[in-house]
Amino acid sequence: MSKIESDSEWILPNNLKAVEGREKNKGISEVDVKSDFGSYRMLLAGAKTEDSLIGQHNCIGIRAQVYSQILVATVKIPSTRSFALADVGCGAGFVTAAIHERYPKAQIHGFDIAEDAIAYANKAFAPIEFFVQPINGNEPLKQKYDLVHAMEFYPFTRTNSLEIHLSYINGLANSLRPGGTLVITAANTEKCINNNLSEIQNQLSSTLDIQIVQQPSYQIFRYIPVLPLANMLTAIVNKILGRPGSRIWLIKNK
Ligand SMILES: C[S@@+](CC[C@H](N)C(=O)[O-])C[C@H]1O[C@@H](n2cnc3c(N)ncnc32)[C@H](O)[C@@H]1O
Repeated sequence: MSKIESDSEWILPNNLKAVEGREKNKGISEVDVKSDFGSYRMLLAGAKTEDSLIGQHNCIGIRAQVYSQILVATVKIPSTRSFALADVGCGAGFVTAAIHERYPKAQIHGFDIAEDAIAYANKAFAPIEFFVQPINGNEPLKQKYDLVHAMEFYPFTRTNSLEIHLSYINGLANSLRPGGTLVITAANTEKCINNNLSEIQNQLSSTLDIQIVQQPSYQIFRYIPVLPLANMLTAIVNKILGRPGSRIWLIKNK
C-alpha cells in the first residue's frame, strides 16, 4: 500500500506550508477564505466571523462550548485537577479556549502548522500558549502531557492511509505522561481514521489500549448533557437521518 493516496497528499506538512505561503503572498482582498490559511489570515486581520468563514474551518462559538462539555464527560477528568493538555491541530484556538474554561487549572498548549491561526490564538486566548509546529508523527511535542487532544486533525480525518494513522498515533502517544490519554475526534467521512479501526487495533494492541466511543450530536448534548442518554438519542437520530456521526478515540499506553 502506498504511504498516502495521491489526492490526500495536500495534508502533508510541506504541502500545507506551500499553500500557506501562497495565501500569505496575496493581497488581502485576494485571500481565499475557503482555504484554512486564507480564513486564518482574514481572522487575524480583524474580519468578522462571517467574512472569514472561520466557522467552516474551526469549531467555534456554542459548538466549541458544547464540545468541551462532551470532552469532559468522555475523559472523566475532574475539572479541579491540575494537569497538562496539548491540543494538536488547534487552528485558531476556539476549542482550546473552551477546554481551558472547563479546566482552568490545567496547563494548556495549542499546536498548529498555520502561523496566522497561532498568532490569532495567542492574541485572543491568553494565557493559553499556542505554538506554530508542523506535527509530523515523528518528532515529539514540546513536553509530555496527560491529555493529547486532536479534533478534526487532518492526518486522522482526511486520509485512509493506515501508515499515516499508525505513525501519528505512535508519535502522539510518545508525548503522553504515564497514565495519559490521546483523544482523537473524527467524523465518519469517506477518508478518515475510523475506517482503519480494526487494523489499527490489531497492529497496536501490544503497546496501546484503544477504545472508541460515539460522539453525541452537539444539538442533542446541548439540551440533554447526560452522555449515555445523548449517545442513545444520537444513534437513533443518525440512523433515521442516515447521518455518518463522529467517533472519539481514547488511547492509552499499556
Ligand atoms: C479542520 S481544522 C480543525 C481545527 C480545530 N481542531 C477545530 O476542530 O476547530 C484542522 C487544523 O489542523 C491543522 N493541521 C493539519 N495538519 C497539521 C500538521 N501536520 N501539523 C500541525 N497542524 C496541522 C490545520 O492547519 C488546521 O488548522
